[in-house]
Amino acid sequence: MAIFSLPERKAWVLRTQHADYVIGVDASGALQHLYWGEPLSISDDIPSTAGQHAWIWEPEEGNSREECMPWGRRNFAEPGLKVDFADQTRDVVLTFDEADIEGNTLRIVLKDVLKSLQVTVCYRVIDIFDVIERSVDVKNTGMGPVNIEQVMSAIWHLPVYPSYRLTYLTGHWGAETQLRRELLHEGKKVIEARRGITGHNNNPFFAVDFGEATEETGLVYFGGLAFSGHWKIVAERTPYQTLQIAAGIHDFDFRWRLEAGESFVSPVCVGGFTNQGFGDASRKLHGYQQQHVLRGSGQLRPILYNSWEATSFDVNETNQKELAAKAARLGVERFVVDDGWFGQRDHDKAGLGDWVVNKIKFPQGLGPLIDEVTSLGMDFGIWVEPEMVNPDSDLYRQHPDWVYHFPDRPRTEGRNQLVLNLAREDVQAFVYNAVDELLSTYAISFIKWDMNRYFSEPGWPGAPVGRDREIWVRHVNALYDIWRRLQEKHPHVQFESCAGGGGRVDMGIMRYADQFWTSDNTDALDRLRIQWGYSHAYTAKSMVCWVTETVNYMNGRQIPLKFRFHSAMMGTLGIGMNLNHLTEAEMEEAAGYIAQYKTIRPIVQEGLCYRLSPPEQSDLTSVQYVAKDGQEAVVFVFRHAQHFGHPALPVRPRGLAPSARYRNVATGEVRSGQGWMSRGILLRLTGDYDSAMIRLVQDESNTYESK
Ligand code: DGJ
Repeated sequence: MAIFSLPERKAWVLRTQHADYVIGVDASGALQHLYWGEPLSISDDIPSTAGQHAWIWEPEEGNSREECMPWGRRNFAEPGLKVDFADQTRDVVLTFDEADIEGNTLRIVLKDVLKSLQVTVCYRVIDIFDVIERSVDVKNTGMGPVNIEQVMSAIWHLPVYPSYRLTYLTGHWGAETQLRRELLHEGKKVIEARRGITGHNNNPFFAVDFGEATEETGLVYFGGLAFSGHWKIVAERTPYQTLQIAAGIHDFDFRWRLEAGESFVSPVCVGGFTNQGFGDASRKLHGYQQQHVLRGSGQLRPILYNSWEATSFDVNETNQKELAAKAARLGVERFVVDDGWFGQRDHDKAGLGDWVVNKIKFPQGLGPLIDEVTSLGMDFGIWVEPEMVNPDSDLYRQHPDWVYHFPDRPRTEGRNQLVLNLAREDVQAFVYNAVDELLSTYAISFIKWDMNRYFSEPGWPGAPVGRDREIWVRHVNALYDIWRRLQEKHPHVQFESCAGGGGRVDMGIMRYADQFWTSDNTDALDRLRIQWGYSHAYTAKSMVCWVTETVNYMNGRQIPLKFRFHSAMMGTLGIGMNLNHLTEAEMEEAAGYIAQYKTIRPIVQEGLCYRLSPPEQSDLTSVQYVAKDGQEAVVFVFRHAQHFGHPALPVRPRGLAPSARYRNVATGEVRSGQGWMSRGILLRLTGDYDSAMIRLVQDESNTYESK
């Protein structure tokens, strides 16, 4: 049973396979956090709500561990809820009203002691991955309006330890998902986005350990926020040695008005626990995403070709057909035309918003190209950026009021474009109709949905009274709703979320996005770091990686084709090269890697990921994927640069069945799983940018006799 209540103690245990999460109602009626960690199999071990230590100046109620810590009384920590009532009251005290268990979901209803405000704290247990989804639903049960000024999806209270360490992802355009790990001292560490989208600078993922966990060992608490807008995660360490993680919509510039009877439902925040280190934390998140977040569980992602780096805005029927023919020869399964096919889009200064096929580039529309692509055995995908408009566009000339702006003030452009106000219903209808028409007219199987600037001047002239600051959430919800409706009507179409590379990667849009464009940085060496960080929070199946040309535009680096392929084969493989620049020999070599990828794709996309050797620790990066049934494993090894003639260090695989026999497909060598894991694999990787892909497959006589 995933959830059981202990009525005599007014407590609930949320039980997953390897963890218990316990909450209970204290004597004052507050819902308190009691425990999170390894399972408490004996009921005597389940803590009671009594015994919160009281400090002078910080009396019990101000030092407690409420599950939804409202701002009121003497709660001084980062609040889970802050509300402004019509009579200017700004104090909330929540007490238990009722609880309801339905399958793997627990809902606890809390009410303010005096005001007509109801808060339902919702927990959904996903037991095999040891994660809990949390959200809150705030309802105005009174007669007058109420303003929500802050609402966190979850406050996670960690057990008390002498030391806490936060793992998070930071970066910027071209350098997304860079892994950071730092000790938390007293005070707050905030990771956030206040730019309208998830952002490149931080990602809504966290992991906390007690300073000792490794990839394979130690207690790790981890999670992420499923939201693609304005968010914050606050790790707050008090001088009393406690740590809480508050995660939710950012309160900055946010206000949500609840009329009588209205509710506000927060996004979901996911939290999980493992006692087996960061690697297991990631595998749990990956499995959860594959089975509970991504659409079409079990569907593998096709190998795509995207022409952006090859032809940029100069797309036309002839050059795309030429590339398509070459892509098909390589074994590519999906051909994607990127930016430049519509309106007056010859550069990034014009055309966004005018979603009509450019008749100079495609005189008979997209039909002939799509026919050609499908006759070559591939499906067809196309790029759009429908939340945006260039001032130099017919759309903007007709509707200059459709963008976020403050009246009579300048509108700041980013990449020569402005953001359409998706809080407006007429704009939502326009965006939906533009993409729906495209999908209804043409045989399109894939949409790459881009978004190339952050918000500025987030004004909504004409907004209903008191609702102008809701745009931070309304935009995101409208986007989700548009994708959901498009997908209902066109269920075969897959979606990629892109925001100038990986600017909109999160578990919120992952419910609709089948994959993410990880980064515009396609330098295979930089990618090792970007992908390493990415793998902490998200499954490889969602991580799109293109093989592009050498010299790479980002760092001017020249990397052999093999290394470029191996780097990109660690996620959902794509090709972004100008195929006209490849020699016959390179075409053949590339086709070979693509064929190899097809054989390992289920293991990479749906298997268990083991990070073996981090890019920053030595001159070697190594990542391994193991099939869920343990039958097969694939190990990628990258040597960045050899120095002093040193041989490459051995790479020790993990996650193999210890007593099963595994054969190295390339060399024929057979060892037990334990043998491979203990002795490791010695590879002759020399010079700069050498790489290898090793496949270990269980032998027919697959176990050793036990002696
Ligand atoms: C930014 C994306 O990240 C690129 O892949 C490409 O689609 C361009 N936009 C097109 O403008």
